[in-house]
Amino acid sequence: MGSTEGGCGCLEVILSHPTLSFIFLLTAVAAVRRYIRDSHKVDGFRDKHVFITGCDTGFGNLLARQLDGKGFQVIAACLTEKGATNLRAETSPRLKTVLLNVTDSESIRKAVEFVRGEVKERGLWGLVNNAGRATPIGPTDWMDLEDFTKVLDVNLIGLIDVTLQFIPLLKKARGRVVNVASILGRLNLVGGGYCPSKWGVEAFSDSLRKDMSHFGVKVSIIEPGFFKTAVTSVDVINADMRRLWTRLPQNIKNSYGVTYLDDYMKVQDFSMGILCSADLSKVTRCMEHALTARFPRTRYGAGWDAKLFWIPLSYLPSFVADFVVNTLLPSPQEAKNK
Ligand SMILES: *[C@@H]1O[C@H](CO)[C@@H](O)[C@H](O)[C@H]1NC(C)=O
Repeated sequence: MGSTEGGCGCLEVILSHPTLSFIFLLTAVAAVRRYIRDSHKVDGFRDKHVFITGCDTGFGNLLARQLDGKGFQVIAACLTEKGATNLRAETSPRLKTVLLNVTDSESIRKAVEFVRGEVKERGLWGLVNNAGRATPIGPTDWMDLEDFTKVLDVNLIGLIDVTLQFIPLLKKARGRVVNVASILGRLNLVGGGYCPSKWGVEAFSDSLRKDMSHFGVKVSIIEPGFFKTAVTSVDVINADMRRLWTRLPQNIKNSYGVTYLDDYMKVQDFSMGILCSADLSKVTRCMEHALTARFPRTRYGAGWDAKLFWIPLSYLPSFVADFVVNTLLPSPQEAKNK
């Protein structure tokens, strides 16, 4: 094979070298095998029920509409009546909604009762734990314990509670659990409860996968990069950061300096503007694959930023990620004076 004029001739170099050729061949075979394995699908969507949390907006909302379009029996859990009404207006009469507050065990129990009545002897094919919140976000010493528990209660304890209560119905169907973690379940880029909650989701999902494998229940973890949803809304995050700043004692404010908050929010506005993708279907396609593939993957990195940057970065020593974050964020006044 001749390289064209001006071309790099990479393939030619690889193929002229026995070891590189062998590695190239192995990689190609692995890619083809993965492609074929990925393409085997389960059938009978119309007999399969999927319960999704956090369907008011964002990934949950899009997934509910997407699976409804594919013929699944979708039961969409929303936090608000408004979210539920809007979703029903955009979907087929097959889709049902329930109101669910994942921090309230009684609310979960009622949702399980409703789902049990719907699925009857079939059991529940899919549970998608998608509901989540991000704020408060900010430096660790700006927060009190409640700021952490607010996020952990929804993203981690709520997710565990929902999963435990649905396990009997999932075992009956030999179904699927799809847990939405984040690249922030591998890397700590922001302070507050969000990263610990997502690390927790990763750990809980890993235990669940091993324990449920004996019963034919498969567990997948979705790790989205940055996407434009309510969770990454800069207005909400900034407003909450202002709340944290306002109540700080003067000595902590002094250690950060008067311009710190504004500088931080500027960086946040700018980087979220660049990073966040509006194409939420990159995430819901992964969720759909986890629910419909004969061999769902254990982990799905969703979005190019996750696949090419954040997840590779997470395998490097911690000081590399620390360096990246510290280069982006402003330094407190006290650090500058040293
Ligand atoms: C959810 O339930 C918790 C615990 O019962 C309660 O404190 C909280 O206000 C509820 N949230 C909403 C949005 O209803």
